[in-house]
Amino acid sequence: MFNPSSFIDEITPQLKDKIGNERVLAAVSGGVDSTTAAVLAYKILGDKVIPVLIDTGFLRKDEAKKVKYYLRDVLPNLIVIDKSDLFVSSIEGLSDAEEKRKKFRELFYSTISSLMKQYNAKYLMQGTIAADWVETQGGIKTQHNVLVQIGIDTEKQWGFTLIEPLADLYKNEVRELARYLNLPKEISERQPFPGPGLLVRVVGKLTREKLEIVREANEIVESSLSDFGYSQYFAAIFESSGILSKLSDNNVFIYDVKATGVKGDVRAYGNVVKIYCEDYYNVKNIVDKLEKYDITHVLCTVKEREEGKYSIAVRAVITEDFMTADYAKIPKEILSNIADQIFEKIHSVKEVLYDVTSKPPATIEFE
Ligand code: XMP
Repeated sequence: MFNPSSFIDEITPQLKDKIGNERVLAAVSGGVDSTTAAVLAYKILGDKVIPVLIDTGFLRKDEAKKVKYYLRDVLPNLIVIDKSDLFVSSIEGLSDAEEKRKKFRELFYSTISSLMKQYNAKYLMQGTIAADWVETQGGIKTQHNVLVQIGIDTEKQWGFTLIEPLADLYKNEVRELARYLNLPKEISERQPFPGPGLLVRVVGKLTREKLEIVREANEIVESSLSDFGYSQYFAAIFESSGILSKLSDNNVFIYDVKATGVKGDVRAYGNVVKIYCEDYYNVKNIVDKLEKYDITHVLCTVKEREEGKYSIAVRAVITEDFMTADYAKIPKEILSNIADQIFEKIHSVKEVLYDVTSKPPATIEFE
């Protein structure tokens, strides 16, 4: 059984010894892991800790403002730095999922590196947890924050030393620690949000238009599903055009985009398909038949219309450890209502789909 109080007793002298009189830059994303790490460090080391939130342009709607507000008491010295133009303009136009993730990582750490010089900090604190490096080591995804475990020497490459006090904890343990540290429940109970943010939910080529649409659609999905207790729920976007083929039974379509999944222990970049189904929660027979098409995500149509050029996929999953996950059984009328809201607010959306794939063969995110 994880005991937050003993964990703090154990980590306090270790952190104090290691940091001495140096300064620590704490990278905060507003997610539970990085915020808990920063608050823990602030409690132990006080003003030696400089918490920064980089607005990468891939945050959710008003996220930087909201996080600053939630943390006004527990992390009053949080600094928000707007780098959205740099990130979005550097990644705009890229299509390959791993290429986008790698570019994001490069920009993220070069930004951090110049902030460290500016604030005269020697150490960088991150909220990396066990699941992050397990998946990156397994070659499934380039998690943006996993460095040392895959052999990157941060001292050589960027000139700083990493500290990851939560690296051996799992998500539920981090939440327990967050509650113990009195973090507001908007943070401790928050659904996970990936470091590269909405970037991994813009499937295929990154454009500003797709990014703004997914930000809006994501807001609708989050506000509609926040009371259901699902582990993670969000929207992703891709171009609806380019359906390559209509399979033999007339009701299955393969899109001209690929998305990330997991096969065995390795990453698989596979096809995304659309099916028409009466019952979202009884699709096993259809999905089993599709195995030969190298598919990672199966999407059921919720609503479609003539105009528009984008597809929005709604995804909601239930999971204990995020290593495997089941798709959630959202009531049909709720999905239909989400689709109506999306159609009303975003004119360029042609269809709203629901992702009925578990992990594996899909991953939770699309890229
Ligand atoms: P996947 O998509 O790999 O996601 O099934 C598992 C969990 O990890 C989150 N995730 C990330 N978190 N940096 C992060 O901090 C990343 O690069 C990243 N990629 C995925 C994802 O949201 C889910 O909770």
